[in-house]
Amino acid sequence: MERLDVALGDRAYPIYIGAGLLQRARDLLGARLSEQTLIVSNTVVAPWYREQLLEGLSDIPVRTLIIEDGEQHKTLETLNSIITRLLEQRFNRTCTLVALGGGVIGDVTGFAAACYQRGVNYVQVPTTLLAQVDSAVGGKTAVNHRLGKNMIGAFHQPVAVLSDTDTLATLPARELRAGVAEIIKYGLINDAEFFGWLEHNMDGLLRRDPACLTHAIAVSCRNKASIVARDEREDGVRALLNLGHTFGHAIETALNYQIWLHGEAVAAGMAMAAHLSVQTTGFPAAEARRVNALLQQAELPTTLPDGLSCAQLRELMSVDKKARHGQLRLVLLEEIGKAVVTADFEEADLEATLRVFTG
Ligand code: NAD
Ligand code: GLY
Repeated sequence: MERLDVALGDRAYPIYIGAGLLQRARDLLGARLSEQTLIVSNTVVAPWYREQLLEGLSDIPVRTLIIEDGEQHKTLETLNSIITRLLEQRFNRTCTLVALGGGVIGDVTGFAAACYQRGVNYVQVPTTLLAQVDSAVGGKTAVNHRLGKNMIGAFHQPVAVLSDTDTLATLPARELRAGVAEIIKYGLINDAEFFGWLEHNMDGLLRRDPACLTHAIAVSCRNKASIVARDEREDGVRALLNLGHTFGHAIETALNYQIWLHGEAVAAGMAMAAHLSVQTTGFPAAEARRVNALLQQAELPTTLPDGLSCAQLRELMSVDKKARHGQLRLVLLEEIGKAVVTADFEEADLEATLRVFTG
């Protein structure tokens, strides 16, 4: 088992990564649990892992709330159903929520924990690769609005993250690859050596080799934890974690959150960011080809589905949370392992990139 810590002073918390951790939940989480504990999970994950987690929590009295599966349920309605259950059970401010599932469960449960009685503890137990390397770490919680993804939310850190790599055995291959997109992101923004490691170990990762998975999750979490510790509320360096996301969120919204997974949209978005970087920051074209090659090795998209228009994507990109004073800011690459957040690009170059990708 690997243990990392997110260094946030009196709100610091551990990330445990390894096999068989659900069964050890009580030992690992200890005093972070409460006599009033609610597991929130969904109709896909709960049948696989709820019992294991309950066994692992042994003598802790635990309630469970199972919600419907899918991004379309990351809503205020679902948030309300969690709050209602907490009130019905007379849970007080010492209660603990446990998010057992992927990023959707983690985000909505974390937001419920942020809101309930002005903030209660929660533990992330991520069961997708994407959640283990990204969404479970760093305290961003949210639900979607019809007009924009993750537009209602709060920063609220978990008290612990328990990433049991055994849970990845049941994850559909496409979901696994979506998680790999976020792993590649860390290599691109912050860690050239890790990018090189991924070029040599992608096959092992896709085969779910346990050593490859544990290494990739731990390095990703280490990168994310160090950025979050420096900039918890995204006033600066944390925005780098959005490489590919401004393009990706526009793609997801244009596709109505259907057809493509978040990680797939981020993958195509990173290919687009690399393309624009060549025009803007002097990022070498040969390095952009390495980015595309690694995404393709991971069987991730580097082109867009038919039917999206340049104007539609540009319009959707303007609601991005990084925009300041009406000016769009993007994460672009200077080198593999070095990214910048910048508004210093020509609108014509952005539109040229959008045109290339929308055909
Ligand atoms: P998800 O939560 O929808 O999970 C993907 C699918 O896999 C779902 O059908 C889920 O039920 C299923 N599943 C989960 N674990 C499984 C398992 N072990 N075995 C079999 N099936 C399993 O999607 P996701 O990719 O985990 O997360 C995407 C969400 O995360 C998006 O809403 C995105 O906005 C959010 N996100 C948040 C952050 C953050 O910092 N908070 C970062 C990145 C993404
Ligand atoms: N996934 C982006 C962040 O956590 O900041």
